[in-house]
Amino acid sequence: MTTAASQTTTHAGAPDGDPLLSARDVVAGYLPGVNILGGCNLEVHPGELVGIIGPNGAGKSTLLKALFGLVTVRSGSVVLDGDDITNERADSLVRRGIGFVPQNNNVFPSLTIEENLQMGLYQSPGRFADRFAAIVDIFPTLGDRRRQRAGSLSGGERQMVAMARALMMDPSVLLLDEPSAGLSPVRQDETFIRTRKINKAGVSIVIVEQNARRCLQICDRAYVLDQGANAYSGRGRDLMDDPKVVELYLGTLATDVEKADAARPPGA
Ligand SMILES: Nc1ncnc2c1ncn2[C@@H]1O[C@H](COP(=O)(O)OP(=O)(O)OP(=O)(O)O)[C@@H](O)[C@H]1O
Ligand SMILES: [Mg+2]
Repeated sequence: MTTAASQTTTHAGAPDGDPLLSARDVVAGYLPGVNILGGCNLEVHPGELVGIIGPNGAGKSTLLKALFGLVTVRSGSVVLDGDDITNERADSLVRRGIGFVPQNNNVFPSLTIEENLQMGLYQSPGRFADRFAAIVDIFPTLGDRRRQRAGSLSGGERQMVAMARALMMDPSVLLLDEPSAGLSPVRQDETFIRTRKINKAGVSIVIVEQNARRCLQICDRAYVLDQGANAYSGRGRDLMDDPKVVELYLGTLATDVEKADAARPPGA
């Protein structure tokens, strides 16, 4: 049988040169004897915005956790800038320049916005004033409301705090797990625009997204994971135009609606 993984090269469309961060044949899991990732590969090149999409339970969050030392990698490796960082502790990875925003419970609700951001910089508190100023540039609301408790914020605002906290250490690569989950369409758009802006400012990004179409629209490249394995990869646009990817992972309804919209005369 031809598997989906054999239908494409592992890092289709990737730029030349060494990746900044890579997962190589990563096998990982939570329970003894049960592997969730069965040999996953991913590369992020300097300046890239890379998406990970796939069905629920495919192992997307697990792959991000494997990159950030939060689930044990049983075989394979994680490499940052040529250094093997497999199973290194998260606090050490933060010092090396990796930022991680988890899918859930990503703020300290009883702390204020400012205190949440201080937590992001606990390894070098002396830089707070500088970093806070840089962050407020991207998230002006957080500056205005710095004394508000994170627990009293809306979902979108909490997501901002979580992303801002990860940015406090000025990471070279940011790992985002479903930053748009649970947000209204307008707030989702804001999240995608902000993600793009952070990327344009020079931060390489890996983003896991439930909203696969939007993810493919904003990403340079993306990986489709299925059942703990690489299924497809390529440039965002190419994946959106791949009938197999559409059929299996994006749903044909949205394509039909897009076609109907395109066929409609202007103003109709
Ligand atoms: N802490 C855990 N202990 C045991 N199994 C877990 C744990 N976290 C996740 N799993 C299992 O690992 C598999 C992959 O989960 P993961 O959270 O990586 O999927 P996902 O692709 O991020 O899904 P979703 O789109 O729903 O967020 C699932 O079968 C899940 O039940
Ligand atoms: Mg997940």
